[in-house]
Amino acid sequence: MKVVLFMIFAIQCTVVYGARILVIESCGSYSHWQYMKSIVDVLTKRHHVTAITPILSGDQQNYTEIDATSVFPVYGERDTMDLIESYSSVFHMVPLYPKNSFERSICDSFYAFEPVKRILKANDGSAKANRFDMIVMEPFYSSCLSYLAYRLRIPEVHVYPSSLSTSLELMVEPNSNYVFNPLLKGLNLHRYIPIQLQYFYAKFVPLLTEIRMKYKKPRRYDVVGLNHKPSGVLSNMLNIVDTPRRSIENMERIGGIHLKPPNALPDDVLQFIEDSPHGVIYISFGSISSMSNLPDNIQQAFVGMFEKVPQRILWKYNGKTIYLPKNVMTKKWLPQRDILLHPNVKLFISHGGISGIYEAIDAGVPILGFPLFYDQPRNMGFLVQHGIALSMDILTVNKESLLKNVQELLYNEKYDQYV
Ligand SMILES: *[C@@H]1O[C@H](CO)[C@@H](O)[C@H](O)[C@H]1NC(C)=O
Repeated sequence: MKVVLFMIFAIQCTVVYGARILVIESCGSYSHWQYMKSIVDVLTKRHHVTAITPILSGDQQNYTEIDATSVFPVYGERDTMDLIESYSSVFHMVPLYPKNSFERSICDSFYAFEPVKRILKANDGSAKANRFDMIVMEPFYSSCLSYLAYRLRIPEVHVYPSSLSTSLELMVEPNSNYVFNPLLKGLNLHRYIPIQLQYFYAKFVPLLTEIRMKYKKPRRYDVVGLNHKPSGVLSNMLNIVDTPRRSIENMERIGGIHLKPPNALPDDVLQFIEDSPHGVIYISFGSISSMSNLPDNIQQAFVGMFEKVPQRILWKYNGKTIYLPKNVMTKKWLPQRDILLHPNVKLFISHGGISGIYEAIDAGVPILGFPLFYDQPRNMGFLVQHGIALSMDILTVNKESLLKNVQELLYNEKYDQYV
């Protein structure tokens, strides 16, 4: 009898290994996926993960991908001015009275997507490969994606890719004391009223749009309801880019999870960095803001600064050739984390995206920020307060002001010490 029990126990041990987790990445942006994939990499150590994603990294052990480029929009490099225009104000990001809801049309194609239909059917007891124990997903304004977890009766964890949870957080906890303001540069009392106005706008306009759409075009996923809450939230936040505040229930701050051990630099980049006696300035505005589309006078301000500094410049720049001095190397894509970790890299000129900020802090490199939109002004505001960065306005930058701030960050030792 004892032997039989032991055998049953042993068989169970070999059969029961980890959970089956479904990951849904609803935003086709490289930086969002980088963050989600870091969470996936942790989960696949113990569990099996299937990801429905518009950005593909390739199958691995314990990890299967479903190509969702036909469902979720993919965001490539875009004109920086255009991005500032579309995303720097909540009034542009959240239209007051849209004819259609962007989120609902995505959900319509999501539920018409064959793999999703199969997963919904598997719930009835058929194919085991399509059954899951948990969903981890990047949500958006509508709760329609949550219908999948609701129907499968499994827990759902939300993943916030920015340092600012804002409207997403408001959906989970409407009474959060958080103030929504993508333009917030530190907390000033005189900004209180505009901040509150934006807060109410961001809180109620998406709700009103949802309600209106539910009457106009009812869908089966509407059953989830506006008050739906996830079981937990993983936020790409750290205290360094936030003020003390009450946070929503079951929210873990896991900012910096994407920081992995460095890889070797490509030979040409490594040589370029090591052969520079005065160090290197690294410049990148991230994966979606194209610097080559910036107006001429702004690009000229940068080139003018390059000519005046003894450092070499490593620039993520993808565009028509402009005149560049000899100390500059440009590439379409650069291994940012590995570059920042090189001790000869002295300064990072950045748009203030949260992942790059974590990489620079981890590497101990001061930042000159040109925050463009969404959480970036706020991220830079906090870094300036901590004395590890300076922040400038991209639209009014000129050669002299740029050079002055670059020299301040390079030669005033306090930035190095604080970072
Ligand atoms: C895959 O999961 C199993 C446990 O289910 C684990 O032993 C193995 O190390 C995982 N593989 C990887 C590459 O993490």
